[in-house]
Amino acid sequence: MSIWKRKPMALLLEEASESEKGLKRTLTAWSLVALGIGAIIGAGLFVRTATAAAQNAGPSVTIGFIVAAIGCALAGLCYAELSSSIPISGSAYTYTYATMGELLAWIIGWDLILEYAVGAATVGIAWSEYLNNLLVNVLHVSPIPYEWSHSPFQSSADGVSGIMNIPAFVIVGLISLLLIKGTQESAFVNGIIVITKVSIVVLIIVFGWHFIDSANHTPYIPPTSTYVDEAGVGHNFGGIMGILGAAGTVFFAFIGFDAVSTAAQETINPKRNMPIGILGSLAVCTILYILFAHVLTGLEDVEFFRNGGKEASVSNAIISAMPGYNWLAQFVTVAILFGFTSVILVMLLGQSRVFYSMGKDGLLPRAFSDIHPKFKTPYKANLVILVIVGLFAAFIPGDIVGDMTSIGTLFAFILVCISVIVLRKTHPEMKREFKTPFVPFVPILGIIVCLAMIYGLGWTNWLRLIGWLAIGFIVYFGYSRKNSRLNNGDKE
Ligand code: ALA
Repeated sequence: MSIWKRKPMALLLEEASESEKGLKRTLTAWSLVALGIGAIIGAGLFVRTATAAAQNAGPSVTIGFIVAAIGCALAGLCYAELSSSIPISGSAYTYTYATMGELLAWIIGWDLILEYAVGAATVGIAWSEYLNNLLVNVLHVSPIPYEWSHSPFQSSADGVSGIMNIPAFVIVGLISLLLIKGTQESAFVNGIIVITKVSIVVLIIVFGWHFIDSANHTPYIPPTSTYVDEAGVGHNFGGIMGILGAAGTVFFAFIGFDAVSTAAQETINPKRNMPIGILGSLAVCTILYILFAHVLTGLEDVEFFRNGGKEASVSNAIISAMPGYNWLAQFVTVAILFGFTSVILVMLLGQSRVFYSMGKDGLLPRAFSDIHPKFKTPYKANLVILVIVGLFAAFIPGDIVGDMTSIGTLFAFILVCISVIVLRKTHPEMKREFKTPFVPFVPILGIIVCLAMIYGLGWTNWLRLIGWLAIGFIVYFGYSRKNSRLNNGDKE
């Protein structure tokens, strides 16, 4: 039983051609860009921009966005090569199984739980905050009490302690049930959500620009210091380290563009359209993000974002700094609730695909790959995900799960970059619909930029990642290694 055993490429491609049956090549470059934007814009922009400004970089959070975008573009080119050569569900987990063997595939599969499941919890928590905002500022009714809309690790300014975040739990549960029924987001609904999200961002930039107070932008890069948050955790604030920390935090805002790469087998002329889809959606979002962050940090000062409304900081900043624009704050609140819902859906879908693949390979209980007889979805995987994500959403604060998502995804990106280099050596002959340019420079640069962001996220997050991986090792050596189909000689 070798932990380095690789899933043979021929077997993988056989599975790919089976799964490809029935899929049509219909997606154009533009539909890929829309798909990307639909999965990308969410809590990262509307919640974590303010967090990064407050904890790390002040106005220079805009530079953090640029660093994060560079890392994503480099890793995105690597994703595009792998997904066009191994077009099968399971994403980075599957690529790693073929290139670097079972143990590393396990690590990445375990790590992807951070990206998708914990990411969904993060957006669920932000959803909960905006729901309260909707109740108070739009519908003018009482909010859900603090203790029932926050984790036990949070307390309000007037000393009320959270017990459980019920709305976050409920939204995660509802979307999981929807996924079990197999309700697909149609291209039409995705199109409407994309237009709504982009319009809010553009409206805030255009109207907010006139309310920028240059005092809030001075100095643009704050001098170096340490900011200690309400939980007593210190953050590097200002200077280069502040920018790297902000990049790690707002990196969350770009997560989801890798979803574009999973559509490789449904894309017309992937060689041309895949890079346009990935880099195009990244480019559009990067420009919007930088302008948005510039406006937001110009509306209020860093102290406001440290104290003012946390997750619902954007609508709070509009109400406070843009007199006469309460309607915009209300529109933002409603639209964001819809926007977050689609992001949660994409993330839970991604997680169920990874669990499904791991269940099929025997690394997780085989029940995870059981398909519902009527709905044809991996319903048991979805139910387990509901419980895991629901617990995270109900009991852990948004900042913590958000940073865990970022660090987990950065780690996945690094392994994807390494996979490209390894696969070029071990399988030079393989058909690649899209080839990453300038290998090995692009993957190596990708690794360096992602490592820099991991560094910027600080030691508490490194420890969380190490702790998470340690639990993963226990599960692998306690269960998965013995049950792996590849190790037991099963063909499938
Ligand atoms: N990029 C997605 C968001 O910001 C995950 O919500």
